[in-house]
Amino acid sequence: MRKIIRNGTIVTASDTYRADILIEEGRVAAIGKNLEHAGEDAEVIDAEGNYIFPGGVDPHTHLEMPFGGTVSKDDFETGTIAAAFGGTTTLIDFCLTDKGEPLKTAIDTWHAKSREKAVIDYSFHLMIGEINEEVLKQLPEVIDKEGITSFKVFMAYKNVFQADDETLFRTLVAAKDLGALVMVHAENGDVIEFLTEKALSEGNTDPIYHALTRPPELEGEATGRAATLTGLADSQLYVVHVSCAEAVDQIASARSKGLNVWGETCPQYLVLDQSYLERPNFEGAKYVWSPPLREKWNQEVLWNALKSGQLQTLGSDQCSFDFEGQKDLGKGDFTKIPNGGPIIEDRVSILFSEGVDKGRISLNQFVDIMSTRSAKLFGLYPKKGTIAVGSDADLVIFDPNAERILSADTHHMAADYNPFEGMKVKGEPVSVLSRGEFVVENKQFTGKTGMGKYIKRAKYGHQLEENGAFQSANS
Ligand code: URP
Ligand code: ZN
Ligand code: ZN
Repeated sequence: MRKIIRNGTIVTASDTYRADILIEEGRVAAIGKNLEHAGEDAEVIDAEGNYIFPGGVDPHTHLEMPFGGTVSKDDFETGTIAAAFGGTTTLIDFCLTDKGEPLKTAIDTWHAKSREKAVIDYSFHLMIGEINEEVLKQLPEVIDKEGITSFKVFMAYKNVFQADDETLFRTLVAAKDLGALVMVHAENGDVIEFLTEKALSEGNTDPIYHALTRPPELEGEATGRAATLTGLADSQLYVVHVSCAEAVDQIASARSKGLNVWGETCPQYLVLDQSYLERPNFEGAKYVWSPPLREKWNQEVLWNALKSGQLQTLGSDQCSFDFEGQKDLGKGDFTKIPNGGPIIEDRVSILFSEGVDKGRISLNQFVDIMSTRSAKLFGLYPKKGTIAVGSDADLVIFDPNAERILSADTHHMAADYNPFEGMKVKGEPVSVLSRGEFVVENKQFTGKTGMGKYIKRAKYGHQLEENGAFQSANS
């Protein structure tokens, strides 16, 4: 059925204006001031007083991921439902690989966990843990058949996911040839391993030592190293979850030299700080991420980097664990606390409330950061990430004046706590459409599990069109 959204204010990464949106067959069919005739037989949605944003694109999630001796709590069902409530309509999840295993096996595992469950559209990044002739042979198929055009290399988590510099460099070289974007978790895993063993041997086992053994210098060093290797390979790099000034400086310096280096931060680094890890009764474990939360002054550095464009995107790094039964695996040994938290639902609202409402970024920058730029960098644009004729009707009707308190009592994520518990935010998604269908209507879930589709993405620097990709300098 056709739908028409009337009386709302459309906001894209470049424009803010009042117009109606006509939706046909899941796409935006027309945008204009007088669409009365075009929409005669259409269901009318009144968006008076609300903004209409393109659905959020979350470039960084770990749903149902085996990690830290357990499995992240939110799966593709609860995780995508929560994402939708929060105004996100597309996510890109990290597909883990095992050394020696065909890449296709790992990708099939990720398809199996998502296919029947997702309520919003999704895609995958692929982890590269080793590079050899066997792996190199498989990469063209990963890109051309699976539409996976981003590879992830971990520079930390020694003896688990960590890859060496040769692997990173060869991945960068291959990505340059194949048209993929290389993503890095940038921390110096070798030195962290040394500092961690030292802390434990000295009896320092509390959650705060997670932060103290991963100092910001080690994030800055790894970020600079990855950027240098990117320049040498004349390739392209996306640094995930940037948490501190040291890493921002390295990204800014690489960009000032003309390198293709991009950076993402996450809501937790914008509003929480290292002191949370010192909370009593082991509550500090709720705030264990890698990289760790930093000293508070870094928050303003990150906001300024978003504003100035040195960082371009906001990922949730959704990787949730219950406090009871999962985070508490690390009682008496901080290295056993599973790293990560439930963020997917609050990513957009925190950026709007702390960013736009507090005057740190403009409304159009907000849309760029929470949706458009990720869509462009990861080969989803203009199908996703904007409101334009022909784009998927992934839309968020957003009340900018609603006030509410973030809490585990009201969130839709499966985890038993919310790291932003008690935080007041301004602004709330009221209704969310995915390809023209309501997933959330007037704050009620109306979607169906399995309605989310897997999206094959275009190569780096290309646009995603229904009938194939074409070259563009849009990134
Ligand atoms: O602590 C984090 N960030 N957990 C998720 C895995 C990762 O490193 O992104
Ligand atoms: Zn990471
Ligand atoms: Zn992550």
